[in-house]
Amino acid sequence: MSDQQTPESEIHFTGESPETLTLLKTRRSTGARLLGEPGPDRAQLEDMLTIAARVPDHGKLAPWRFVVIAGEARARLGDEAAAIIKTDTPDADEGQVEKARNILLRAPVVVAVVSSARSHPKIPEWEQVLSAGAACQNLILAATAMGFRANWITEWIAFDRRFLEKLGLAADERIAGFVHIGSSDAVRSLRARPDLGEIVTWL
Ligand SMILES: Cc1cc2nc3c(=O)[nH]c(=O)nc-3n(C[C@H](O)[C@H](O)[C@H](O)COP(=O)(O)O)c2cc1C
Repeated sequence: MSDQQTPESEIHFTGESPETLTLLKTRRSTGARLLGEPGPDRAQLEDMLTIAARVPDHGKLAPWRFVVIAGEARARLGDEAAAIIKTDTPDADEGQVEKARNILLRAPVVVAVVSSARSHPKIPEWEQVLSAGAACQNLILAATAMGFRANWITEWIAFDRRFLEKLGLAADERIAGFVHIGSSDAVRSLRARPDLGEIVTWL
């Protein structure tokens, strides 16, 4: 693990950031099919992934990793998804096969956030899995803060071991999310949020 500690003198965050609060209060997903060009370039992605990796991580295990699926790789993996559909459903219609083929082609970039939680003498696997979820959330927040839109989804390919093998996952690794990133002008509708009264217990 690289040591990316910033000397205190270089930290500029003042501890108050109304813009950050606005982002956190208003962030909204944009459906993958609405995400178009431009997507993030390499430098922007590296920035986002650096932020994604800066999540609470009990024991410094880095129990997650990222697979960036961009360009031609999206179509190549889509062909693998289509082949699986054809194998499992020989009478699948062309629409179903096409949907699978396009599954990673909706957004310019898809980041597979991989949970590599493993049994550990001190750190419960559950905590490692939660950390991967936090990495997904950091990633969509970073993408949004950089002016992109994002969608954290899984869909069937996240649970199909044949597909995951093609993606390069080990047998004990799982997908925390396929984070789709791109641009869109689409106006997002409001989404009902839970009432605090329903989800908070004050003791
Ligand atoms: C682990 C995880 C997997 C998800 N998978 C899907 C999915 O496959 N399809 C989908 O439409 N939404 C999925 N969602 C929900 C979206 O990420 C998002 O929360 C939802 O569209 C609501 O939008 P919001 O982020 O603006 O609240 C998933 C969320 C999580 C946390």
